[in-house]
Amino acid sequence: MPRKILVTSALPYANGSIHLGHLVEYIQTDIWVRFQKMRGHDCIYCCADDTHGTPIMLRAEKEGITPETLIDRVWHEHKRDFDGFHVGFDNYYSTHSPETRHYADTIYTRLRDAGLIEKRAIEQFYDPVKAMFLPDRFIKGECPKCHAKDQYGDSCEACGAAYQPTDLIEPYSAVSGAAPVRKQSDHYFFKLSDPRCADFLRGWIVPPHVQAEAGNKLNEWLEGGLSDWDISRDTPYFGFEIPDAPGKYYYVWLDAPIGYMGSFRNYCDRHGLDFDEYWKPDSSAEVYHFIGKDILYFHALFWPAELHHAGFRTPSGVFCHGFLTVNGSKMSKSRGTFITAESYLKHLNPEWLRYYYAAKLNGSMEDIDLNLEDFAARVNSDLVGKYVNIASRCAGFISKKFGGRLGACDRAATAEFEAAFAKGEIAESYESRDFGRALREIMRLADAANLYIAEKKPWEMAKQEGREAELHQVCSTALTLFRDLTLYLKPVLPTLAAQVEAFLDIPALGWTDAWAPLPEGHTIHEYQHLMTRIDPKKIEAMVDENKQNLAPTPEPAPVKHAQHQQAEAKAETVASPWEPFISIDDFTKVDLRVARIANAEHVEGAEKLLKLTLDLGTETRTVFAGIKAAYSPESLVGRLTVMVANLAPRKMKFGLSEGMVLAASDERGGPFLLSPDGGAQPGMRIK
Ligand code: MSP
Ligand code: ZN
Repeated sequence: MPRKILVTSALPYANGSIHLGHLVEYIQTDIWVRFQKMRGHDCIYCCADDTHGTPIMLRAEKEGITPETLIDRVWHEHKRDFDGFHVGFDNYYSTHSPETRHYADTIYTRLRDAGLIEKRAIEQFYDPVKAMFLPDRFIKGECPKCHAKDQYGDSCEACGAAYQPTDLIEPYSAVSGAAPVRKQSDHYFFKLSDPRCADFLRGWIVPPHVQAEAGNKLNEWLEGGLSDWDISRDTPYFGFEIPDAPGKYYYVWLDAPIGYMGSFRNYCDRHGLDFDEYWKPDSSAEVYHFIGKDILYFHALFWPAELHHAGFRTPSGVFCHGFLTVNGSKMSKSRGTFITAESYLKHLNPEWLRYYYAAKLNGSMEDIDLNLEDFAARVNSDLVGKYVNIASRCAGFISKKFGGRLGACDRAATAEFEAAFAKGEIAESYESRDFGRALREIMRLADAANLYIAEKKPWEMAKQEGREAELHQVCSTALTLFRDLTLYLKPVLPTLAAQVEAFLDIPALGWTDAWAPLPEGHTIHEYQHLMTRIDPKKIEAMVDENKQNLAPTPEPAPVKHAQHQQAEAKAETVASPWEPFISIDDFTKVDLRVARIANAEHVEGAEKLLKLTLDLGTETRTVFAGIKAAYSPESLVGRLTVMVANLAPRKMKFGLSEGMVLAASDERGGPFLLSPDGGAQPGMRIK
């Protein structure tokens, strides 16, 4: 009976690029999904971008675009990267969608009606200049313990202390620089402290819902007492407004997991599937979430508690993995090991990484290390040396000597292989996400196949007359074994498998195709090169390209206290809204000068422009400036302002413009022309 399985990976934030750390998760999930599909199950893989929250709002503002434009652009970047690594989502969607809003409202309303939502006034830091409440990570100041300057609101990167933002000495807003004030506001809480939640969760956080090691951690949190969870944020916020609370928005982590439902609902509507069949409380379908260990709290406590009390089914399993290290350490921008998916793909084959990760994954929560030397050695020896080698040694004889037609298989040999390798270990290992074990078994089969060839020595048979039949049989047998290896590797190496299917001219391999000899008389294509060895120079080039000379932008340090706070903090940082930073050299490229407006006049036929004559002390310049709506020419003559003096002259409809004046503006008004303080003289450089 085919199982109905819905699988998700965590939804990546829409304010950063996909990197090799993320890919541990997406590649792992994709391998599992491909395995289930090959087994003939109805397995659907849904994901989406996680698009809401303060960092995305601020980043869009800084780029001068709407958050919608920003998340649309990032969606395409993420999709491109996932496609590049052959992550085969059945649906890649966005949390900023009507479906996600619908289920967020449904869950919120049902929890409220069940008495599990409470409104409470809390006091928080507020940025009076930006008129917004500040998430902890957007407040900085002096560490109360070690007095290091410019530390985040939740923990100190210098001494590791964890504290409240209100403990900071001389706090300031990382958004505007203003001193924050304390301000009260109503927030909505999900009452996780309600005994109904703890009672339900106590029975839920056990295998197979969670791994045993995750269960221990979750029990510690549970027995330590669950606090209510603040699920609302005040305007301005990029997210969904809460239906009965104008000006209040769902906190990004409330609607993020609901995005799994949103993406699946969108898939159902396009494929005529019944959403409720999967999500009703007694559903016989299976739902699995693949996640990293940093977001376990959200997925194994908040999420099942929410679902259960809102009348939905809970996950069949939350599969938690560890973090990626590169060469034994945390990924680092300065060492060049913070490698983006995009830059990897510029230099290296995605299936090399898929293979290496699979070899390292075992279904546990341990961290996994990408050792770049070992990576090259492993891929070269296993994939090129052992696996591809079988085809490249035998296929040539079939084309050259037998017109591409296969002979009969050596049934005694294949029966022996089958007895040794068809015991279901490979499938079991894939099923339990112990991909490392699956690949060890597959490589054992490759070794055995190579040994078979080495013992038969087809290259000698080819030189001796009268041994054609033997040669034909050995090569056909080896290619059958090669087909089986390909089948078992297919969840990990989907494009290589497709190339092999084309080369052997066989239909797409499913799990049950194993061990049946390739038919006698079947014609295969000429062997084409399948995979090259990793050239270590390419790895070096990739690392070099990722090396960044960073201005001091410390990566957010892990918060040492409660795990969920760590993830909350992460939700609110990831990157400073001011990144990418420029260097001082970038800045000094712009030659800014004080200029005196010697003359200003209307331009005939121009709606927005004034023609300015700017005196730089040593010369005058003509500049057309779009400030007519805000200034009359008379009011400008004689005053000082700031101009970009080394901007390339630009030919406009009304004449040549030889620079640019600086003015401030946003939706609150403007343009407001800049002026220097008294004493500045025309021609002075601004630096
Ligand atoms: N947006 C949240 C998830 C919401 S799910 C409803 C988030 N996004 S993330 O982009 O930071 O991370 C996405 C996934 O990638 C998470 O499961 C996270 O654990 C995983 N990883 C991110 N960096 C990682 C490593 N360096 N190593 C392994 N996995 C990592 O969290
Ligand atoms: Zn400190």
